[in-house]
Amino acid sequence: MTTTLSPSSGYALNSGSKIPVIGLGVFKASEAEASLAVQEVFKSGYRHVDTAVYYENQSAVAKAVLKAGVPRDQLFFTTKVHPTATSYEGAKEQVAKTLQEIGGLKYVDLMLIHAPYGGAEKRLGAWKALTEAVQEGKIRSIGVSNYGVDHLTDLEQYIKDTDAKLGKGKGGVLSVNQIELHPWLQRRDIIDWCKKRGVLVQAWAPLAQSSRWGDPLLKNIAKRTGKSEAQILLRWSLQKDFNPLPKSVTPARIQQNLDVFDFELTDKEMAELETDEYDVHGWE
Ligand SMILES: NC(=O)c1ccc[n+]([C@@H]2O[C@H](COP(=O)([O-])OP(=O)(O)OC[C@H]3O[C@@H](n4cnc5c(N)ncnc54)[C@H](OP(=O)(O)O)[C@@H]3O)[C@@H](O)[C@H]2O)c1
Repeated sequence: MTTTLSPSSGYALNSGSKIPVIGLGVFKASEAEASLAVQEVFKSGYRHVDTAVYYENQSAVAKAVLKAGVPRDQLFFTTKVHPTATSYEGAKEQVAKTLQEIGGLKYVDLMLIHAPYGGAEKRLGAWKALTEAVQEGKIRSIGVSNYGVDHLTDLEQYIKDTDAKLGKGKGGVLSVNQIELHPWLQRRDIIDWCKKRGVLVQAWAPLAQSSRWGDPLLKNIAKRTGKSEAQILLRWSLQKDFNPLPKSVTPARIQQNLDVFDFELTDKEMAELETDEYDVHGWE
């Protein structure tokens, strides 16, 4: 597994597509910052960017990605339905708006329902709209974000029922659940659910939003391994088979966050990083 990973490695998604093992997050980055960060990351070897309609920078991100001149099939562009647009009509509009904003990228590699807002009917409506967009070739893979086990179970039932009624695949294929994850928020029930079904878990806030620098747990392992605390957290994420999405607009950090393939945390170090804390920074 992780020992064989490199910056260009990818995880296979349930959709059949491949996603690079680390992606750049651009939440809270202005259009100008996101654009510069994307140019920087593509020089460093990243091929995967995670944005959202909510971040109000997807158009600038797409332009910067295109500027890198990397062949389209080697890029991975993720975006998300705005949390206030979780419904069939809302998600359809979001797909149309996104395709307009990303222009030359032509299609979205992964589109997620950003949050399980609005009740079951609206969530399933948004899923149906994304499924149709996949069938129309506008999106390659679809998934959800901030879903708990109950939301995931409802969605799974809908997919099974729709497949049974209309034919295999018609209910859509769940490839990803993107949730906040770091050693102080481990959400083991959600991870178990996803792993059993081959659903890739993407880790947002893999650096705990900078809230844990200097934590003795982290500091000791960083000192022992000669790596930065950020690199320890990213390694933890990779060794859990997650897909971390570290955000940075600082060139040296961007480079450092991808430089995590020449060492491995031992089983003992991984065990040291097991905590039962429930330190939520974002969606509950
Ligand atoms: N689905 C969702 O609901 C959701 C919610 C939140 C985030 N996300 C996604 O996940 C991504 C990451 O999450 P996040 O932005 O909340 O938090 P994060 O990646 O855990 O932390 C970002 C912070 O860490 C700093 N940083 C980055 N690399 C560093 C390094 N090597 N050393 C020291 N500091 C470093 C960044 O500063 P600088 O930028 O100044 O370098 C920034 O302040 C987001 O950008 C977004 O794409 C998704």
